Amino acid sequence: MKKYNIFIALLLACSGLQAQTNQRIVIETNHTSLVLSVGKNGRVYQNYLSTKLANAADNNILPQGKEAYIGGGMEDSFQPAIRITHTDSNPSLELLFVEQKTEQSTSGSTETIVTLKDPKYPITVKLHYQAYTKEDVIKSWTEIINGEKGEITLNDYASSMLHFDAREYWLTQYHGDWAAEMKMQESKLTSGIKEIDSKLGTRAAMYQSPLFLLSLGKQSDETSGEVIAGTLAWTGNFKFHFETDQNNALRVISGINPYASAYKLAAGKTFTTPAFIFTYSASGRGQASRNLHSWARNHDVMDGNKPRLVLLNNWETTFFNFDEQKLSGLFDDAVNLGVDLFLLDDGWFGNKYPRSNDKAGLGDWQPTKTKLPNGIGNLIKQAEAKGTKFGIWIEPEMVNPKSELYEKHPDWVLRLPNRAENEQRNQMVLDLANPAVADFVYQTMDDLISKNPGLGFIKWDCNRIMTNTWSPYLKDKQSNLYVDYVLNLYKVFTRLRAKHPHLPIMLCSGGGSRIDYEALKYFTEFWASDNTDPLERVYMQWGYSNFYPANVIASHVTSWGKQPLKFRTDVAMMGKLGYDIDVKKMTPDELTFSKLAIKNYKRLSNVIWYGDLYRLISPYEENRAVLMYVDSVKSKAVLFNYNLNIRERETVNRVKLAGLDANKKYKVEEINMMTGAKPILPDNGRVYTGDFLMKVGLDLNSWHLKALTSSIVEITAQ
Ligand code: DGJ
Repeated sequence: MKKYNIFIALLLACSGLQAQTNQRIVIETNHTSLVLSVGKNGRVYQNYLSTKLANAADNNILPQGKEAYIGGGMEDSFQPAIRITHTDSNPSLELLFVEQKTEQSTSGSTETIVTLKDPKYPITVKLHYQAYTKEDVIKSWTEIINGEKGEITLNDYASSMLHFDAREYWLTQYHGDWAAEMKMQESKLTSGIKEIDSKLGTRAAMYQSPLFLLSLGKQSDETSGEVIAGTLAWTGNFKFHFETDQNNALRVISGINPYASAYKLAAGKTFTTPAFIFTYSASGRGQASRNLHSWARNHDVMDGNKPRLVLLNNWETTFFNFDEQKLSGLFDDAVNLGVDLFLLDDGWFGNKYPRSNDKAGLGDWQPTKTKLPNGIGNLIKQAEAKGTKFGIWIEPEMVNPKSELYEKHPDWVLRLPNRAENEQRNQMVLDLANPAVADFVYQTMDDLISKNPGLGFIKWDCNRIMTNTWSPYLKDKQSNLYVDYVLNLYKVFTRLRAKHPHLPIMLCSGGGSRIDYEALKYFTEFWASDNTDPLERVYMQWGYSNFYPANVIASHVTSWGKQPLKFRTDVAMMGKLGYDIDVKKMTPDELTFSKLAIKNYKRLSNVIWYGDLYRLISPYEENRAVLMYVDSVKSKAVLFNYNLNIRERETVNRVKLAGLDANKKYKVEEINMMTGAKPILPDNGRVYTGDFLMKVGLDLNSWHLKALTSSIVEITAQ
């Protein structure tokens, strides 16, 4: 009898083990699934990441792939996802499956948490996967829990590790510099390592953006090919590691850049990595972008589905040179133009060291009495009385050595001991790792907003990277600085949003050097680049459109570039329209056109902001760019057509439209024309079926093929 019981117990244990080893963890959206499984050794493996299998039962026969989140110091010979040093200096980590939990959220997503533990050390790692069903987006992040008695060091601590097995891998990255953001570059991955990273701290995305497209098997295009669009939601140093092994298997590791950031995690503490957000499309890049756009509007960007303000900024008109009287004239311009808000840029603060150029004043956030004797409140009232709202610029994480703040708190500044100070744009970065400094930044922002009721908008700027990085506050924990800076910045954002939930705030960083989906949880739009030359902007906005919806890409009409105002305006209208131009210098025709353009934009903004984007002709492939937005019920679309450096009589084909209802009839009409201009469409205003427009297309340039010209076409279901 006893023997029999032992036999049963053994059988049960074995079948338990069997159940466990067969266990599948299925993370799925409407069209994609990521399937993990628990191996016989208790480790968790990635079996599949692709289009969802038609029969759920087939998930159970998927072959076991590579370990899902590899611990360093064990037997794997490539880059691990995590590498820690234990309290006793042991540098290895084995992660075994403990449990899996799946929770349905009300917001249309499912969160799966896979808990792993080291069998020898009290370290727990939780892999989180939030799958957004409708949008086909997966967000993944990791919690690392230190159950040891002392501090451990996180040497590598990825948000995500994904494995691929394809014949070829093509990587598109987005690189640039100040005034040259978001250049798209595609290359084939070869064996070995390719990394895209940033070590810049504050303006982390200045040279490389935390975004990539990875095409599997062959190069993808807008409508075909398998592609992963991935991005890290982190407003600091990031790293994407692509490693192709001897069998042509690829691992993609995404997370905070561990460079100079071996993170000290105290006993009992949990480290939560930022989220890696990705979407998989089996039908090209266009679908991947549309997935991310709707996810961003529905689940990430602050007020992503709410209207934005069209604004007039004064930066390029006045720079630092303004006073109350001049501003009053600019309020009139804003009203005359028909925008919603006037935005006062840099140069309004500092008294002991007034901000009359970029050499002084940052940190002293009191209005300069000689320029603005009646303060900000009075400007808000004046603007309101004239019929416009008022917004203001600020750069709260920075300080000029020529400021009262610096004199009072020299220890609040990031600066290496025993080294010369390194200034950029004559300024230094405040030590946000220090909670007192983070508190100052919060208080500055809260005071500005609370003491000036009616303030309608803020532009939060950040004009230098970190160099000579050292925190006087962190003392012997310097390697936590890059990370703690960002974590404290998020605390500031969180507190601010708790008190001022819906105030529109633009994320700016000397142009577009700091854009990511974590920051955008708190911001309503971003400044894409200081370069507003519309020719450049076509390429940049094209690049941004791969990941971000139009309602967050601030695009202003300015005086940069020699293109006609019509071209400049049409380019700005494909994003979130604004102005940074001297309205008084416009000719009467230009003013009439601009007023019309703003009216058109407001009428069509629902389609541009919330519609589905179809990129039809890429400026990277032809001397022109064509794209269109289609609303969700396919009743209205707006098409933007830009001729770039087009040559005399260059051959251009008809453009086949996309995203329409083949069975509907649409009126096709050019809008946004200068007074007296002839439409470019041979049959302007004609009605076509959606089928015709998508199969035969439109001749957008029959007689009008000139460099730097543009047209906007409104397409309306009848
Ligand atoms: C950099 C921004 O990108 C500009 O738009 C402007 O706000 C300046 N800073 C002001 O210093």
